[in-house]
Amino acid sequence: MKKTYLIANWKMQLLNKEAEDLSFEILNKVKKIIPSTRNKNLEIILCPSFTSINSVNKIIQSFFKNKSLSAGAVKGSQGAKAEQVKLGAQNVFYQKKGSYTGEISATQLKELGVKYIILGHSERRKYLNEKDEDVNKKIIITLKNNLIPIVCVGETLEQRQNNKTDLVLSKQISKAVENVKLKNNQKIIIAYEPIWVIGTGQAVNPKQAEQSTQIIYKTLQKYFTEKIIKNNISIIYGGSVDSENINNFLKMDLIQGVLVGNASLSSEKFIKIIKKIKNNKRN
Ligand code: PGA
Repeated sequence: MKKTYLIANWKMQLLNKEAEDLSFEILNKVKKIIPSTRNKNLEIILCPSFTSINSVNKIIQSFFKNKSLSAGAVKGSQGAKAEQVKLGAQNVFYQKKGSYTGEISATQLKELGVKYIILGHSERRKYLNEKDEDVNKKIIITLKNNLIPIVCVGETLEQRQNNKTDLVLSKQISKAVENVKLKNNQKIIIAYEPIWVIGTGQAVNPKQAEQSTQIIYKTLQKYFTEKIIKNNISIIYGGSVDSENINNFLKMDLIQGVLVGNASLSSEKFIKIIKKIKNNKRN
């Protein structure tokens, strides 16, 4: 059975102490609400800013080992399914190493315990001029380091209104996966994120999301075998996900998780989402 992914994208919202506090709160609550025998399929991925990756990794690790790092906050965590909580980054540079001032490599992230990397988020495409070609190179370096890329694609409102959604999605996917070969143990997550609903508090109709994920699926079929798509690629949804709408998305056949921005910045809201997933029979 494929995993259900719950990915917290903290963007550039938190100072280090705030990221530490939020991680502690989430991990402590996760420990309480996920009994050790259930929810093996749920994978929670915390994606802090680069500046907090080291601290958040230490917190996740301490939780694993049942070692308290601060004020007993993780005491008694034994038996919790902490292995379900993983670390992600929000970007990577596509070169291996070298004179690239200000950039961060996949090996540097891996060294800090990162397992997943968000790539091609619409905010990076918009503000940092990131192109499909860059995303493609970043996917390749990410996979080479045995990390899992979370590749974001999605249309603007204007593109949707001009009936360009299918075209935009198939082009973004085609370019992103060009020359990407997936070995048996390698995975890619594709996040469908309609740009016009990100951060608005108003998610798309799940049926619309399902239609877009079908386009993504069809495009993937041009590049990968059915077996690889089934076993190694997961499609998720992102854009104003909260505890009220989460299960409407997870009901959709092709949607295997969610990428959450705003609602992941509050441990209460994030835990409410986890509880909803937990009560969903699929998990
Ligand atoms: P949102 O952000 O949940 O705040 O809409 C999602 C994202 O940008 O990944």
